[in-house]
Amino acid sequence: MILSFTNQKGGVGKTTTVLNLGTFLALKGKKVLLVDLDPQANLTSGIGYRPEKKHSPRNDTFKTKKTPTIYDIMIKKSKIPEAFVSTDIENLFLVPSSLDLAGAEIELVNMMSRESILKRALKDIKTYYDYILIDCPPSLGLLTINALVAADKVVIPIQAEYFALEGLSQLLKSIEMIRNNLNRTLKIGGVIITMFDSRTRLAKAVEDEVKVYFKKKVFRNKIPRNVKLSEAPSHGKPIVIYDETAPGSIAYRKLADEFIKRFDRKP
Ligand SMILES: Nc1ncnc2c1ncn2[C@@H]1O[C@H](COP(=O)(O)OP(=O)(O)OP(=O)(O)O)[C@@H](O)[C@H]1O
Ligand SMILES: [Mg+2]
Repeated sequence: MILSFTNQKGGVGKTTTVLNLGTFLALKGKKVLLVDLDPQANLTSGIGYRPEKKHSPRNDTFKTKKTPTIYDIMIKKSKIPEAFVSTDIENLFLVPSSLDLAGAEIELVNMMSRESILKRALKDIKTYYDYILIDCPPSLGLLTINALVAADKVVIPIQAEYFALEGLSQLLKSIEMIRNNLNRTLKIGGVIITMFDSRTRLAKAVEDEVKVYFKKKVFRNKIPRNVKLSEAPSHGKPIVIYDETAPGSIAYRKLADEFIKRFDRKP
């Protein structure tokens, strides 16, 4: 199943969720591929991946070959099997991003079937993974459109803060547009409330409002605001390795259980 983690609002916890939810899904025995579709490459660095220069297999010992990234897949027609890398977590794989991707939105404009490049790239490997999680950039441009066209479901992280719902109608309009034109079967897989501070009435008010709108789509397990979650990526580690007992770690572990219950293929 391919899930796109999408919200054009910046800093709502898309990357943190893809990284940590993906890690727990892998630890629970699921085969998981994370796709970093953001030129900021926060997911790539957050998981501890440093793009190394690979040795060229052809005799010239001085020439080095860069590991392909999502940019090469989108623009240079590299194949996913050349680009995905393993991580420190068993069953967890990553297609890394790099700053090159910043130019991709423009380069894509003149390409054939530019909205479905990622879908085609993932087609052959889709059945190999239980979950493919795509981390979108904070925009509704061509990269995000590619994610929504490739995905079976879109998951929307919403920050329990002021202006949380701002821009949501625009996102929902985009999803509707994709459904009508490019991906008829796209569904809203769920809404995740992030950075929840149980001490504030505001957070509760945002939660209530989100539930009125999205009803049962809202995951029961919210992610609390927890500084450990923001520290872990600078060490290149998922929360479970950085601090397994942190509230943020416990929350993502529970969310992974709920996620599996909601989405696992029925036997
Ligand atoms: N539950 C949390 N508690 C505390 N800090 C968090 C939490 N979730 C995310 N953060 C921090 O908030 C910032 C934004 O989170 P994140 O990068 O996951 O959001 P994003 O939606 O991917 O952002 P962007 O739109 O820029 O890609 C980061 O510094 C992250 O470490
Ligand atoms: Mg991000």
